[in-house]
Amino acid sequence: MRRAGSAGELCSQLVGGEHYRVGLSFTVMVESASRETERARLDLLLRGFQVSRLLRLVADLSIADGVQDGGDRTVADLAADCEVDTTQLTRVIRALASVGVFCLTEQGVVSHTPMSRLLRTDVEASLHHGARFWTEPGSWRAWEELDVALRNGVPHEQAWGVDRFDYLRRHQDTARIFDQFMSHCPDGRHQAVADSYDFSGIDTIVDVGGGNGEALRRILGRFDAPRGVLYDRHDVVSAVDDGDLVEGRIRVEGGDFFQRVPSGADLYLLVCVLHDWSDKDCERILKSCRVAMKPGGRLLVCERVMEPDPSRGDPFDYLLDVQMMAMYGTARERTESEFRDLLERRGFALTHLHETSSPVSILEASVI
Ligand SMILES: C[S@@+](CC[C@H](N)C(=O)[O-])C[C@H]1O[C@@H](n2cnc3c(N)ncnc32)[C@H](O)[C@@H]1O
Repeated sequence: MRRAGSAGELCSQLVGGEHYRVGLSFTVMVESASRETERARLDLLLRGFQVSRLLRLVADLSIADGVQDGGDRTVADLAADCEVDTTQLTRVIRALASVGVFCLTEQGVVSHTPMSRLLRTDVEASLHHGARFWTEPGSWRAWEELDVALRNGVPHEQAWGVDRFDYLRRHQDTARIFDQFMSHCPDGRHQAVADSYDFSGIDTIVDVGGGNGEALRRILGRFDAPRGVLYDRHDVVSAVDDGDLVEGRIRVEGGDFFQRVPSGADLYLLVCVLHDWSDKDCERILKSCRVAMKPGGRLLVCERVMEPDPSRGDPFDYLLDVQMMAMYGTARERTESEFRDLLERRGFALTHLHETSSPVSILEASVI
């Protein structure tokens, strides 16, 4: 396939400082391919998994952190840092450079492009954790079994013999990659939720399935009054560092939200929890919340609200929907009316839908 502007030309432009001119992102490759043939366009989509896997490889090795802006690190330096073979690492970085992630000269000097810089761990909305997450083996092998979902099976269970959360309990390294990805999700949902709702009059917030507490940290960082209870599985909350509990304003509690939820708070949060579950299981979680809530209590369900028409919707929503299928079978993303029905079946009224600056909306519900 021929493209306008070879990787070599682009690389010298980038080294010359014209970083804004990156034109070889994977998306742009796909777009430019479409100007040539549909065959090439589809072929590039077919190879997306190769790019994903290469991105995980360099993220696992923290290559992007080893490349300095304006620096002159060579592949040999980076390979020595990571104790890997220079020639093989060159091939990996070269393939990524061909799609606009890193710039590599013929002399083996590596520099950043705007996309590779997003793999650094110290940039805002870093994609480092996403690169490590999307193709980690637990998820990767579930996708291989995706077809069983069409016959009412659960791909993850077919691949691993256990459900996703059991798998994470047994694979603590993967569980930490998952938690890190949740708290550094590129959707920016935790800050967006904190910015889009007035928590000032709230005394106690229980974050149900709150992961490692990022939503509570962001909310408490913005509002002085509330205290938080971080409620999640025992193995998740026991991994949370005391230093991340906002000087004692967050208390952690381990438990199972199908059994119970801490009672008596004035506000309950479910951030990207319901999409992990079937309607039946969501009803059980909502029932636990309802039992725990006092009269006048509020529930905030923070989720992507899927547009029914895919030609108008966000592709990330539909891909995430299938990720849920791969991990949990009948779990899924939902439309506004599906959320409304789900809430009503468990005695809640959807009172307000707050859009946020992220793709996640806040569905505010009260007990009927
Ligand atoms: C998709 S993550 C969302 C985490 C967090 N709310 C966030 O937005 O970053 C779902 C969370 O539900 C938790 N979870 C799953 N099953 C649970 C259970 N039975 N009881 C309590 N928490 C559970 C998981 O451990 C995980 O942290």
